[in-house]
Amino acid sequence: MIKKAGIILLCGVMFAGLCSCGKKTADGAQKFQVGVAYYNQTDTFLRELIDCFRGDLEEYKTKNLEISAMVREAGGSEKTQNEQVEELIDAGCDVLCVNLVDRSDPSEIIDMAMENDVPLIFFNREPVREDMMQWEKMYYVGANARQSGQLQGELAVEVIRSQDVDRNGDGKIQYVILEGEADHQDAIIRTESVVNTLKEKGIELEKLSYQIANWNRAQAQNRMKQMIGQFHDSIELVLSNNDDMAAGAIDAYDELNYTEENRPVFFGVDGTAVGLQGVKDREIAGTIYNDKEGQAEAMAQLSVALCTGEGMDAISFEDERYVFLPYLKVTYDNVDEFLDRQ
Ligand code: BGC
Ligand code: CA
Repeated sequence: MIKKAGIILLCGVMFAGLCSCGKKTADGAQKFQVGVAYYNQTDTFLRELIDCFRGDLEEYKTKNLEISAMVREAGGSEKTQNEQVEELIDAGCDVLCVNLVDRSDPSEIIDMAMENDVPLIFFNREPVREDMMQWEKMYYVGANARQSGQLQGELAVEVIRSQDVDRNGDGKIQYVILEGEADHQDAIIRTESVVNTLKEKGIELEKLSYQIANWNRAQAQNRMKQMIGQFHDSIELVLSNNDDMAAGAIDAYDELNYTEENRPVFFGVDGTAVGLQGVKDREIAGTIYNDKEGQAEAMAQLSVALCTGEGMDAISFEDERYVFLPYLKVTYDNVDEFLDRQ
């Protein structure tokens, strides 16, 4: 019985080995396909990240290596995403890059990848550690959420100390927070660490309210209008978990015709095209660069290494499976450097 199981296992491993080494084209080049599945095409940051990724893969092409991406977006449904991953595996993808819809429920995707021996690179929406430890061919590429909150807090401290943010002069900063999805690591941790940083640096805060706007500009505009309706011009600071929601908050003030003197200061995270333009126009006081170029490049490098079996040594992992790109502060003074990257 044990021997039989062993043989079946061995055959499985050999078969899987054959599956994961790509195909040869007529002129002898190796040909690989990377399957990319992401949670929602309405997400600005992810659209920009995936554009970068496609461009990076192009650059890895040589006369001996053909590599291309098949991209699917799940419209916010985990069920759809599971089906898309199955389809990508059936289509013969050699590696999968997955941005989970539900980061707490990756089990179906992990099972399918393991059964078919297709390495998995999760990105941006981080599975919990227990899930990551289920198989040695799983990786994560992203950024350290705590750092983004800390840096946003530091930027806010600088502005509070140098500009007239405390408009009612009561020695406290009346603030509101716009949060991303409720169970997203970046939303939870950014919110917590930005507030802690402000407090640690000795800023007296008064939290007026917070609203969840799911990373989305239109939702943020709506939620911000509600908060303005409640607190009028007493809001002095808007801390947003991302740039799209900061832009939505500004849309709300525009819509209600608030003059500049009666507006709060706004901070975002990401450095998307919209976010950087907001900083350039001095509408957003600062943002924290979520290095999409670096993350896309790390995903491309790792995908190529997993396909070809070469180049793994050149990648610096934390805990053997994680690649974290640092966040960077963006203000009016250095925004041009970041606009040049676009
Ligand atoms: C980004 C958000 C984005 C989210 C999607 C975050 O890291 O800051 O802009 O909507 O990831 O998962
Ligand atoms: Ca005040």
